[in-house]
Amino acid sequence: MAAGAQEVVDDQLVVNGEIPIVTEAPAPDYASALGTIRSGWTFRSEDTQMMQADDFDNPGMLGVEAARAAFNSEMGTGGESCASCHDDPESLSTVRGTYPKWDEEHGTVQTVEMQVQECQTERMGMEEPYGYNSTDMINMVALLSSVARGTPVNVAIDGPAEATWKQGEEMYYTRYGQLELSCANCHEDNYDNMIRADHLSQGQINAFPAYRLKDAALVSVQNRFRGCIRDTMGETFAVGSPEFVALELYVASRGNGLSVEGPSVRN
Ligand code: HEC
Ligand code: HEC
Repeated sequence: MAAGAQEVVDDQLVVNGEIPIVTEAPAPDYASALGTIRSGWTFRSEDTQMMQADDFDNPGMLGVEAARAAFNSEMGTGGESCASCHDDPESLSTVRGTYPKWDEEHGTVQTVEMQVQECQTERMGMEEPYGYNSTDMINMVALLSSVARGTPVNVAIDGPAEATWKQGEEMYYTRYGQLELSCANCHEDNYDNMIRADHLSQGQINAFPAYRLKDAALVSVQNRFRGCIRDTMGETFAVGSPEFVALELYVASRGNGLSVEGPSVRN
């Protein structure tokens, strides 16, 4: 461990004393360079780690509560709420760990955000669905994550999703920006090292949305991607773009075997 990195004293995450979280697991074959896959949680300071262990201390849970109210509220022209068709968020607990996922009807890989927008526009008659990166959307994804905590990340990368996955893999190893750095240069070759004041993680997304103490807000997966590419002084892709959907599928698959952990707390 590099000088200055904080010691992880307690390496077990059990949320609310009842939901055990797998924060380390053997790497899947296609991510064998990592040996062991590790949640970003294992790289954070003990203070930050502790905030995620109890919902009362996790500021991300405020977003979850807001989304729970929205889930039960009428939206759109049909006078329906999400609950009209889905009972409660808990009935959607398999979603967060298995998305992005191939959608037969639309012939494309969909993220959770795209699926929520699909229900809003095609089933609820909403002309203006939640914006991809809006607070309402991030909160809704946080809700769907919270009810999935402890379930395994297990995204499918074969069959019709394979071409998208390959596109994401290629992006992961592409050097971006004036610094000419790929995701892999930092998160595969240099995780556990310090970069400026940050303890570099493997860049896993099992724990998203993440409440960033620095921003005092929940941050979506693709917003995090955007920030990382910007840090290379590169042109980034748009949130919700096909490129970022592909990258999200690939990065998600590198975490197959970890637990869903969002909303998490990060610095
Ligand atoms: C009129 C009924 C209806 C309403 C209202 C509705 N949905 Fe859906 N939803 C569906 C159906 C039907 C599916 C399955 C479609 C599919 O598999 O592509 C679905 C699928 C989903 C899925 C994916 C489930 C899975 O197992 O892959 C999510 C997540 C979801 N809806 C979230 C929401 C949210 C959030 C809202 C409120 C903003 C909402 N839905 C409102 C009917 C509805
Ligand atoms: C210059 C190095 C660098 C590059 C290149 C980079 N990142 Fe990051 N990334 C960071 C740092 C620093 C952090 C914050 C500390 C951490 O969690 O690793 C971070 C955090 C993340 C996180 C949050 C992890 C968590 O658990 O909170 C994800 C996800 C991520 N990066 C994905 C990516 C992806 C995908 C790419 C390629 C498009 C990328 N990063 C490129 C430096 C980089």
